[in-house]
Amino acid sequence: DKPWTVPALADAKRAGRKLAMLTAYDAVFARVLDQNGADLILVGDSLGMVVKGHASTLPVTVDDIAYHTAAVATGLQRALLIADLPFQADATPERALDAATRLLQAGAQMVKLEGAGPHKLDVIRYLVEREIPVSGHLGMTPQSVLRFGGFKVQGREERAAEKLREDALAVAEAGASLLVLECVPSALAQSVTAASPIPTIGIGAGPHCDGQVLVLHDFLGLDSGHRRPKFVKDFLAEGGSVAGAVRAYCDAVRDGNFPGAEHAYQ
Ligand code: KIV
Ligand code: NA
Repeated sequence: DKPWTVPALADAKRAGRKLAMLTAYDAVFARVLDQNGADLILVGDSLGMVVKGHASTLPVTVDDIAYHTAAVATGLQRALLIADLPFQADATPERALDAATRLLQAGAQMVKLEGAGPHKLDVIRYLVEREIPVSGHLGMTPQSVLRFGGFKVQGREERAAEKLREDALAVAEAGASLLVLECVPSALAQSVTAASPIPTIGIGAGPHCDGQVLVLHDFLGLDSGHRRPKFVKDFLAEGGSVAGAVRAYCDAVRDGNFPGAEHAYQ
């Protein structure tokens, strides 16, 4: 298999080829994911919760993401590597450029940032103009946990759903190459995906997205000490080994067998 490239993601959407994404934080897991079919690997700021042990992603720094990105990059041959801009690293275009440059120099091929407020759209444009591919992230954006008052499904009311549809188009218009949709009703993710010129990657967003992502520890059924959301499935139980779990997940995503109705919000 050829290594993934940024333009190939748009080709995959056009071809209806679903994208299987997982998070990783170190070289050995990265290698197992890469060798068993993961298309996209994310060094997520979820590392604040699953690696550092905090209750949210807010304590994560650019140093943290850069350290784990460099480790993960050594394990990859085929998957495209995305790294999160952590809390407030995207507060201004200049800060975002500094952080994103470090993450690309550590081996990332794209950075991801949450939200679609005016200053976030400015940051997306600023990075893309400077040759840094960007993924958006909308819906239940964990860096908004204080404003949301917890990790809650977003876009349930019609006004919020309409806002999310507009935000998704604005993120693509600003130049993003990919869009993560987290914890939104299936029908909303379906309409966003149909309207979006860029691939959508769902997590707790139903089966109609162009791809899916899960956090490594969740998809291996590990107890992270936090309440397990309904969209999580333990693929280790099904796959029998870590490599088998990755293959089972990637097959299930590509065949449209994951997520099922029981993993989705209506
Ligand atoms: O940080 C992370 O792991 C993420 C995914 C859940 C999309 O942003
Ligand atoms: Na994240």
